[in-house]
Amino acid sequence: MQIFADTADVEKIRELNAMGVIDGVTTNPTLVMKAGRDFNEILKEITSIVDGPISAETVSSDAKGMIKEAAELSKIHKNIVIKIVNTPEGLKAVKQLAGKGIKTNVTLTFSANQALLAAKAGATYVSPFIGRLDDVGEDGMQVIRDIVQIYRNYGFKTKVLVASVRGPLHVLEAAKIGADACTCPPEVIEKMFKHPLTDAGIKRFLEDWEKARKNFKK
Ligand code: G3P
Repeated sequence: MQIFADTADVEKIRELNAMGVIDGVTTNPTLVMKAGRDFNEILKEITSIVDGPISAETVSSDAKGMIKEAAELSKIHKNIVIKIVNTPEGLKAVKQLAGKGIKTNVTLTFSANQALLAAKAGATYVSPFIGRLDDVGEDGMQVIRDIVQIYRNYGFKTKVLVASVRGPLHVLEAAKIGADACTCPPEVIEKMFKHPLTDAGIKRFLEDWEKARKNFKK
């Protein structure tokens, strides 16, 4: 499963990329607002760090506007993937962009039926928001299971990109189901590293190494 960093924080992206654990990046208007910098500058910098799909979101409400934005964003780098909301206008844009060979990520997807429509339109990725579904008492992971099954049943090429991830268990479940990709806030990836036995093991090895060194000196 591919792991994407769900952030516009360039320093975090640089750190995760150096560890070799991320395959791409996803951004959205909220993440760009948090980064507090110019969107195009952020995107340019991210594309210079990570050699993989970088999702950049459009904000128009009509297909014409989305396609215009997509043309501008695509000029930044060949790895830019155009994020488009899952609406009838959004899917019109996805269909046209697919025809031009421009990759898309259909965002704000909350049901398997919406994901089916995105695949029909020719989306490269579909982003079901599992955390936000859990937040309102629905089972986000069940939506992932349904989408993966439907896409397999009919051989759709659209990749399932699990989004709105809240913790390491979401990542684990997504990988077990066989989702193509999971986009994670950096804090979630940091938590994936953590295990108390790793920390305790390092402490003990270092203590024993100190004792061993004393013996060398005798
Ligand atoms: O990037 C889209 C998605 O991952 C947002 O997640 O935490 O705002 O629900 P969240």
